[in-house]
Amino acid sequence: MAFSGKVVIDNMSFRVQPGEFMCIVGPSGCGKTTLLRLLAGLTQPSSGLVMDGGKVIASPSLERAIVFQDYGRALLPWRTVSQNIALSLEAVGIPKQMRQQGIDALLATTGLTQAAEKFPNQLSGGMQQRVQIARCLAQRPRLLLMDEPFGALDAITRQHLQDEVTRLAARAGTTVIFITHDLEEAIYLGDRVIVLGANPGRILEEVEVTIPRPRNQLETREDPLFLQLRHRLHGLLEGH
Ligand SMILES: Nc1ncnc2c1ncn2[C@@H]1O[C@H](COP(=O)(O)OP(=O)(O)OP(=O)(O)O)[C@@H](O)[C@H]1O
Ligand SMILES: [Mg+2]
Repeated sequence: MAFSGKVVIDNMSFRVQPGEFMCIVGPSGCGKTTLLRLLAGLTQPSSGLVMDGGKVIASPSLERAIVFQDYGRALLPWRTVSQNIALSLEAVGIPKQMRQQGIDALLATTGLTQAAEKFPNQLSGGMQQRVQIARCLAQRPRLLLMDEPFGALDAITRQHLQDEVTRLAARAGTTVIFITHDLEEAIYLGDRVIVLGANPGRILEEVEVTIPRPRNQLETREDPLFLQLRHRLHGLLEGH
């Protein structure tokens, strides 16, 4: 991928299996958001192919939901929290009377029940981000693309949502591609972690996370394998 002749992602090739939880880590500016936009079909590569199930991804699709890094621009300011979540249900054609139940469940999951009738500008950054996540989950995508989705959240909310997203994705068989700066988050969530280097963005290593599921916020993070992986990823990023 190049912008005005400047290559930002070079010689990158990887596969994600259906139902897999793939995490991508790498330094700022290495092309993570650009990669996600390519996977979503929002941008076309300068050369090479991005494919979904054997078909070239030529444009965005409701089957691929994307949680943007910049939550401030992802919500419609004139719609309430509930109405913002309903947006994706309207888009996939779910009748109004059937929408409410799904919305209520997602409001509860994301801790937004009390905020249902508020407007985005009445919410904190973390709450706005949770609305965006709820809207993407409501869409029941086949592929969920997340760009540092939990960056604006406090530690407890973050851990809660890590577990909820994992649970909901596993239950629905959703494939997740999850970008984060946080190595521990990547190991905790991922079946695999792709470590990117910068200038130009490229794959340094693909690491398999064989820690069994279900994982647990306390025990998994104390697992010797978890610590070993954390050292390995840290070393890879430090070395570049
Ligand atoms: N539309 C664009 N036009 C020109 N350059 C761009 C464009 N989008 C991204 N870039 C450049 O591509 C590179 C990668 O940007 P990108 O936003 O993908 O990085 P990132 O890994 O997501 O960074 P961060 O961790 O800070 O979010 C940067 O050098 C950026 O300036
Ligand atoms: Mg980014």
